[in-house]
Amino acid sequence: MSDKRLSKVKKEIDKLRQEINHHSHRYYVLDSPLISDFQYDMLLKDLELLEKKFPQLVSADSPTQRVGGAPLEGFAKVNHSQKMLSLDNVFDPQEFLDFTSRIYKLLPEEKVEFMVEPKLDGVAIELIYENGHLKTAATRGDGAVGENVTSNIRTIKSVPLVLYSQESDQFPSILEVRGEIFIGKTDFSKLNQKMLEQNKEPFANPRNAAAGSIRQLDSRVCASRPLDMFCHSPGGHIDDSKNLAEFFLHVKGWGLKINPYNRLCHNQQDVVDYYYHLQEIREGLPYEIDGLVIKINSFEQQKRLGTLSKSPRWAIAFKFEPMQQTTVVEDIIVQVGRTGVLTPVAILSPAQVGGVMVNRATLHNQEEIEKKDIRLGDTVLIQRAGDVIPEVVKVIKEKRQGDEKIFKMPLNCPSCGELVFQRKNEIAWRCTNPNCRSKIVEAIKHFVSRTALNIEGLGEKIIEQLVGRKIVRQFLDLYNLNLDQIISLDRMGQKSSENILAAIENSKQRDYPFYRLLFSLGTDQVGLHTAGLLAKIFPSPEKLFNASIENLQQLDGIGPVVAKSICQFYSKEENRHQLSTLYKLLNMSELQETPGDPPVDSPLTGKTVVITGTIEGRTRNEARDIIEKLGGKVVSSVSKKTNLLLTGEKAGSKLNKAKKLGIQTSIWLGYL
Ligand code: IVH
Repeated sequence: MSDKRLSKVKKEIDKLRQEINHHSHRYYVLDSPLISDFQYDMLLKDLELLEKKFPQLVSADSPTQRVGGAPLEGFAKVNHSQKMLSLDNVFDPQEFLDFTSRIYKLLPEEKVEFMVEPKLDGVAIELIYENGHLKTAATRGDGAVGENVTSNIRTIKSVPLVLYSQESDQFPSILEVRGEIFIGKTDFSKLNQKMLEQNKEPFANPRNAAAGSIRQLDSRVCASRPLDMFCHSPGGHIDDSKNLAEFFLHVKGWGLKINPYNRLCHNQQDVVDYYYHLQEIREGLPYEIDGLVIKINSFEQQKRLGTLSKSPRWAIAFKFEPMQQTTVVEDIIVQVGRTGVLTPVAILSPAQVGGVMVNRATLHNQEEIEKKDIRLGDTVLIQRAGDVIPEVVKVIKEKRQGDEKIFKMPLNCPSCGELVFQRKNEIAWRCTNPNCRSKIVEAIKHFVSRTALNIEGLGEKIIEQLVGRKIVRQFLDLYNLNLDQIISLDRMGQKSSENILAAIENSKQRDYPFYRLLFSLGTDQVGLHTAGLLAKIFPSPEKLFNASIENLQQLDGIGPVVAKSICQFYSKEENRHQLSTLYKLLNMSELQETPGDPPVDSPLTGKTVVITGTIEGRTRNEARDIIEKLGGKVVSSVSKKTNLLLTGEKAGSKLNKAKKLGIQTSIWLGYL
């Protein structure tokens, strides 16, 4: 082949590589792709074809080379030009303030800024770029000497193989940058699913999965793992940045990934506020964090503060409370849900988990108990994730004494004593007695709950009494309650009884859409989303009653099990009667149906919201209705339990309090 032709091909290959690198950066680093996955794959295919035809033009930096190569015998050692340090920990705001006091004492009269970063629980790695090309990637090792894992790190899409050159901030000839390799939550579950399908042992947590992947001698295995990386520290060689904020800006410009939640704080109170804020949004982040890392921003101040033997004086890890804890199973009880399903629940010795006292955990069903071999008296590891019911992760078998008792599901409903049944192909056991007290209590609790008809004041204790005294046997009975009946209950006063009656009455005026009523009835398999699908196509009770299993199954998102459950439910005259009567009672009509999908995934679903200040163009009641339609609950005062403060004009003390508590605030412009 002529040199001329080869150089033409090389130009084409270079152009393709640049284009692919650009899109890869948009997708993996900035999270904002410009082209579809398909278009991206096509570009990569074109490059692969050209490189296959002209193997002499393949380079190690080519985006086609991220698939991994031949296995290594072992990892070579790498000396870190500057020791990779670890961090000291603090566990509460007071300990953090002790840390800042030490700093202020060492830097008297100086302005101190803090760089606050999420602490990802992953694997620390140092990247070394020479003239913009990734040459070495090493683990921390013992801090002084790490392992050369370059072939594995090169497979990670968010790690650029070649840096972007920036006109204003050119990268230095040698750049050493450190960061954390991690696996996101969704990717982690998918990976474990894949491991299970291949009959392999799943990973205990994302950190183990990341560490295991990086230590693979065969980089093709590492390439198949969904690794990601955020850069968080300079190594021994960097540019002339004066502080971390500047360094991050430059590093980002060169194409490396910097956590968008990093924040420069100007005083210790801002740091504590941000700590609470991140703790609040922690569950919603796409990756796990176990706290914050707080660093003095100025490199010059860092230098003067110096380091101790293992950790620097200028940085600290501010840890969150762990979301896992060990405790003892004191008892296992069985609860009956509104659809009659029996759920075993562990009664635990109270334990603090992620800042919340936990004394119960769901055990799901008999099969789950057997699989995890959970016995009465066992010491167990429990975990909670946000508002989700805590669950048992595993039994600490080493703690067994020998007198732990095996649990068996009862043959009779623990509430009404009727025999329980297992449906074909179902794990769950059910009580089928329509008059079972627990079932009615749970059904009413669901009916009045926030996402259903949102009738305030009717708490569990009151419902139990109303059902226990047979005052309420079905939903409609709520609308026939009188003041005397409520006052007669234990510990009920005149005012609170009146409030309950008013709340019930009020539910008729709420302009609720039909799907909300369908959901409130608590049909097995009908959540908010399915109720929304149903109401769209069958917008009135009559239309729904006329639907056959086949009609229902034609709806996108409704399968045979759900369709059968709906038909079975409405084949009963009493259920049809309740739906039709409630439909009229709540003043529903086909016209009033709100267009669009129900707010199943609204950002406000399940959130406790406080409104403050004047909202342009809305009264307070209108504002409340909008938030409730989006699945939120409006309360009047700010507390630790508040999720969001919506502020209008002239927001006052509530805003200050919310800030102090680290609660998310947002300006409400009169529409949502
Ligand atoms: S800075 C001297 N920043 O936590 C500074 N580390 O417990 C040392 N880590 O080995 C590291 N997120 O692997 C820093 N934003 C962050 C971090 C972070 C996670 C890890 C890192 C380090 C360990 C120390």
